[in-house]
Amino acid sequence: MAVEYLRISLTDRCNLNCVYCTPLEKQGFLPHGDLLRHEELTRAAAAFVRAGVKKIRLTGGEPLLKKNILELVRLLRAIPGLQELALTTNGLLLGDLAGGLRAAGLDSVNISLDSLALATFREITGSDGLDKVLDAITKALAAGFAGVKLNVVLMKGINDGEAADFARLSVDRPLEVRFIEFFPANERSDRLKDALFTTAETVKKIEQALGPLTQVPAAAGGGPARVYSLAGARGKIGFISGRSDYFCGSCNRVRMDCTGKVYPCLFSPATHDLREPLRGGADDAALTGYIKKIFAVKADYKKDSASAGHIEMSSLGG
Ligand code: GTP
Ligand code: 5AD
Repeated sequence: MAVEYLRISLTDRCNLNCVYCTPLEKQGFLPHGDLLRHEELTRAAAAFVRAGVKKIRLTGGEPLLKKNILELVRLLRAIPGLQELALTTNGLLLGDLAGGLRAAGLDSVNISLDSLALATFREITGSDGLDKVLDAITKALAAGFAGVKLNVVLMKGINDGEAADFARLSVDRPLEVRFIEFFPANERSDRLKDALFTTAETVKKIEQALGPLTQVPAAAGGGPARVYSLAGARGKIGFISGRSDYFCGSCNRVRMDCTGKVYPCLFSPATHDLREPLRGGADDAALTGYIKKIFAVKADYKKDSASAGHIEMSSLGG
């Protein structure tokens, strides 16, 4: 599978403290000099595009905490040959930035939201920002992005009662609501491993409440989500079934963290470090050559063979 999709984590800091993610005390203590500067990030991204990448997604931590994010989006968007620039955010800061991000060239945005109820939102994230996220969804839709998706992780006994409420959001608005199966990623989320609420269970709840789901043909270059819609809905409903499905064979993505380390698989250790060649004077051709070597080892890393169990989402961003 050709690598056409790069996920870049812009920061390991976050303004939420979600139950399944990296705990606050482990977030964001990297010395400033370890982080790639805007020019370095852009050079690295351009080299990935020359090596075949067509789509870049910015993640975190929370990517909107990155200083001068609008300038960075403009720099990345200007990379010749890049077809799509996307971002995954928790939405807290998106309300104020949506219009600016769109104007700077961001094509699409995914918003993570696990509860529509104040108390449950607080229980999962440690924050009272639910209203801000709901407002950001409206602003993102108004800003004219090519796509707005909502990422929902349902957990048994915590928010699994909200499957139909979330699915209903796809009826009146052109939103894709995506249910992501929870996966134990690190010590903290390991404690929640019995909370897995499967895609099959989610589908059942949605269909009982809202009627049958009809499968929508997969978009070219689409990721692991399987996409459906409710009758008469403007939006869609997607399922990313990392636990019940096995999609390593069709994986077309690699990940780079905010220090330039590159991970060929979500479940692999970093195998390469782009900061060294970037700061060591490598020219553009050398950078592209180095990246092609990373792509060549990707097939060696798969979910089962790799070091699953030690992913810090704050530095890798999912
Ligand atoms: P688009 O398809 O471009 O909308 O994006 P995406 O689904 O790749 O991005 P997003 O940042 O919204 O991620 C959604 C979730 O899917 C995250 O929890 C990811 O960890 C999960 N996910 C994405 N890629 C993989 C993968 O290769 N393997 C597994 N197991 N999970 C993945
Ligand atoms: N299991 C499933 N999804 C997760 N995410 C983060 N950690 C996990 C996990 N352990 C999701 C977030 C966000 C996306 C980028 O990754 O909810 O939507």
